[in-house]
Amino acid sequence: MDSKRVIVALDFPDAGAALAMAARLDPAHCRVKVGKELFVAAGPAVVKGLHDRGFEVFLDLKFHDIPNTVAGACRAAANLGVWMVNIHASGGAAMMRAAREAVAPFARPPLLIGVTVLTSLSDAELAEIGFARSAAEVVDRLARLASANGLDGVVCSAEEAAMLRASLGERFVTVTPGIRLPGDAKGDQTRVMTPEDAVRHGAHYLVIGRPITQSADPAATLQAIARSIAGGKASK
Ligand code: C5P
Repeated sequence: MDSKRVIVALDFPDAGAALAMAARLDPAHCRVKVGKELFVAAGPAVVKGLHDRGFEVFLDLKFHDIPNTVAGACRAAANLGVWMVNIHASGGAAMMRAAREAVAPFARPPLLIGVTVLTSLSDAELAEIGFARSAAEVVDRLARLASANGLDGVVCSAEEAAMLRASLGERFVTVTPGIRLPGDAKGDQTRVMTPEDAVRHGAHYLVIGRPITQSADPAATLQAIARSIAGGKASK
């Protein structure tokens, strides 16, 4: 299994702040995530800047559109050379297949990851938008559809990672946000887990933002997390 399991979320409003944080981190020990705020503000240049500094980048733009449009966006992401990119699994089977076909010709295609159910949605809100099933059932269904249509894995909570590992196997990648260190503030996350527990539950990659980026010493915090994961006897 990959030794670099932590993906640091660079949730910053501009390239300067994001690159300043990156300068405090070691690309040998983590990857980084560029999300909507940073990408809208700073564009492909910030991705290039991170690549130039040796980081592998998860482009977290959660594409959700008709198959042709999502395929084009995924091709553009592969052209940027990102390590991971994500799309909404609820865009459907044809959309996911189109995304897979778009990145397939690349020598090193990005990992193609599906978003199942946004963790911000409660069962009540899901019902309100027309989903009759619980969030867990919808996650399971969409993850199976993602797997069947060529995606490499999904974004999910650590609890769901255990379920998906059992149903879809070890090679189906799980990317897990909502990670907090013991004693950390939850912020706006609700269901949180420590890095050690998340890995024990089967999470492959941990997306961690504020616990690292707002700590007094981000590199030391990252190192402590890596140690706790190793100490947690992470499965493969
Ligand atoms: O600061 P924090 O550790 O909460 O950051 C988590 C990151 O993971 C943020 O970039 C957030 O957008 C992202 N994320 C999430 N929940 C999801 C998907 C992505 O928190 N379901």
